[in-house]
Amino acid sequence: MPEQLLARMTIPKLQARKAAGEKIVALTAYDYPTAEILDRLGVDLILVGDSVAMVVLGRDNTVSLTVDELLHHLKPVARAARKALVIADMPFLSFRLSPEDALRNAGRFIQEGGAGGVKIEGASPARLEVVRRFVEAEIPVLGHIGLTPQSILRQGQFKVQGGEAEEGARIVREAEALEEAGVFAIVLECIPLEVAAEITARLSIPTIGIGAGISCDGQILVFHDLVGCSRGYLPKFVRKYAEMDLLIGDAVAGYGDEVRSGNFPDDGHSYHLKPEALLRFRAVLKDRPACPAKTKP
Ligand code: KIV
Repeated sequence: MPEQLLARMTIPKLQARKAAGEKIVALTAYDYPTAEILDRLGVDLILVGDSVAMVVLGRDNTVSLTVDELLHHLKPVARAARKALVIADMPFLSFRLSPEDALRNAGRFIQEGGAGGVKIEGASPARLEVVRRFVEAEIPVLGHIGLTPQSILRQGQFKVQGGEAEEGARIVREAEALEEAGVFAIVLECIPLEVAAEITARLSIPTIGIGAGISCDGQILVFHDLVGCSRGYLPKFVRKYAEMDLLIGDAVAGYGDEVRSGNFPDDGHSYHLKPEALLRFRAVLKDRPACPAKTKP
């Protein structure tokens, strides 16, 4: 088998991590250069999240994102990822109308977008039915429970889920139902670590946490949060590993200063005519004086 195929992360390899006690490293990406870096650095799973609506497109929430918009970001990521498993996050309306419509949209993410699977939020009976349809059609599904950002219109705000005993137990039951329906792994977002630990211990598939504590089988963060260039409120669970905002700010300020002061571009960043070409160039233009209106006094 070609080396490139051997190196590729697959669903069985990802699931084997749990039994081996090896953590799964996952991040979001929405463009080619970022995905290329993540892939090169050994990130196991790249999610083209619907968070693109907020962190890249500047919207207040994720619900307006369309299938075509997600596809637009998925294609370059899938092109860049040679090893990582690329998962397409199914936008709000893309799996809520009917299981048939959902399957058609998931199929586009696989066939047109190049994804290795899809993620859907929630674990309602209708959602479990969609999962079963996908699995039957051999489309791998990543579940997502706890805080589900697509529920923002109903919930009104992003907040920790499962903070009360009954609610925590409900999330455990949802995780079990998703495993039963056939998801290959589950994202647990913004839930108490005790609830995430219970789910992780009960399931044979991996859990991937975001704000769900240390016990999960892997972790995922939004790339822009990780590198410090996302706008606005940062949840408590985010750890910034860089200050890209400052780095980009310094670069842009330095460029602006040098353009204004006439120090950029200098000779080293400019092109020259060769000496003979310069002589001829001047000779040609001698007979064609500049238009009077454009001639400086
Ligand atoms: O859209 C997204 O980025 C996500 C992650 C936060 C899991 O769903």
